[in-house]
Amino acid sequence: MDPAEVRALGEEVLARIGAAPDTAALEAVRIEWLGRKAGRITALMREIPSVPPDQRAEFGQAVNALKAAVAERLESRKAALEVTRPKRPGIDVTMPGRRLELGRLHPITRATREMVEIWGRLGFEAVEGPEVEDEWHNFVGLNIPPQHPARDPLDNYYLKDHVLLRTQTSTVQIRIMENRKPPVRVVAPGRVYRPDTVDAGHSNMFHQLEGLWVEEGVTFADLKGVLAMFARAFFGPSVKTRFQPGYFPFTEPSAEMYVSCLLCGGSGCAACKRTGWMEILGCGMVDPNVFEAVGYDPEEVTGFAFGMGIDRQAMLKYGIHDIRMLFENDVRFLRQF
Ligand code: DAH
Repeated sequence: MDPAEVRALGEEVLARIGAAPDTAALEAVRIEWLGRKAGRITALMREIPSVPPDQRAEFGQAVNALKAAVAERLESRKAALEVTRPKRPGIDVTMPGRRLELGRLHPITRATREMVEIWGRLGFEAVEGPEVEDEWHNFVGLNIPPQHPARDPLDNYYLKDHVLLRTQTSTVQIRIMENRKPPVRVVAPGRVYRPDTVDAGHSNMFHQLEGLWVEEGVTFADLKGVLAMFARAFFGPSVKTRFQPGYFPFTEPSAEMYVSCLLCGGSGCAACKRTGWMEILGCGMVDPNVFEAVGYDPEEVTGFAFGMGIDRQAMLKYGIHDIRMLFENDVRFLRQF
């Protein structure tokens, strides 16, 4: 056999390797060509010593090259077959995959973030305070004296003497002013707790967003302007606002802010009790007693504060009729947002 025939043989064997459909077929090809006893290339190797000396080198090189090429191709084909044909049975690669559900934000989180973002644009920094509070921050510092009905133990979740779950985010006003010098311009969102009977409109845990702006020369006109801006940004440009005198121990004067009913637009419906208006927050000018409690000089600075219920606003905005749905973790409900 001359070297050209050896190379032709090479083409044949490489084609057979490429066509082997699985590792068993490949092993058969290996035995046929490289088998130690009867392999066809093995036989050629044995022939080398009997080739005439003047042709032996060329023939020997051709056979060795063939053997190396075949061995290498066998290896790579084997690796390829093992990857694409896993031995494990029973996997149907054409089956649709398991769907990964994307999570989404809870409506309260969404409303809170949106509010904080709007207040950020108005120059208010978002801060937080603890949910477990002492009487100083929940009551005394806020000008709520010991005899005040809000301090009735039955209207509060006391954890032990003088320590309770906060009933309002106004606590954060005190904490911030105790720790910072004016000017102060903050909003504080968070959970609050009251032992109310739970129904469609009440939950014993809900959310508030507190606001506080203290600086030299802040007036009630600033309060009205800034809160009206917020209402239009949050509920839409056509919403109207109205202020009505109110009472809170920590503000003087105090007011409640109303927005034109988001459901009927102001003409009167069941949701607004036919008044055309909905109350969304309490507010007022910070009482001098509060400034004194935190070491601010009421002759130097003035300020306003407000507190709004986040749950209520979220319900109005997203059309939720029962506050309990917000806290039941029913994904059929939550998926809609
Ligand atoms: N803390 C009050 C409440 O829970 C809401 C409130 C009213 C907060 C007037 C204020 C405010 O900062 O000035 O009902």
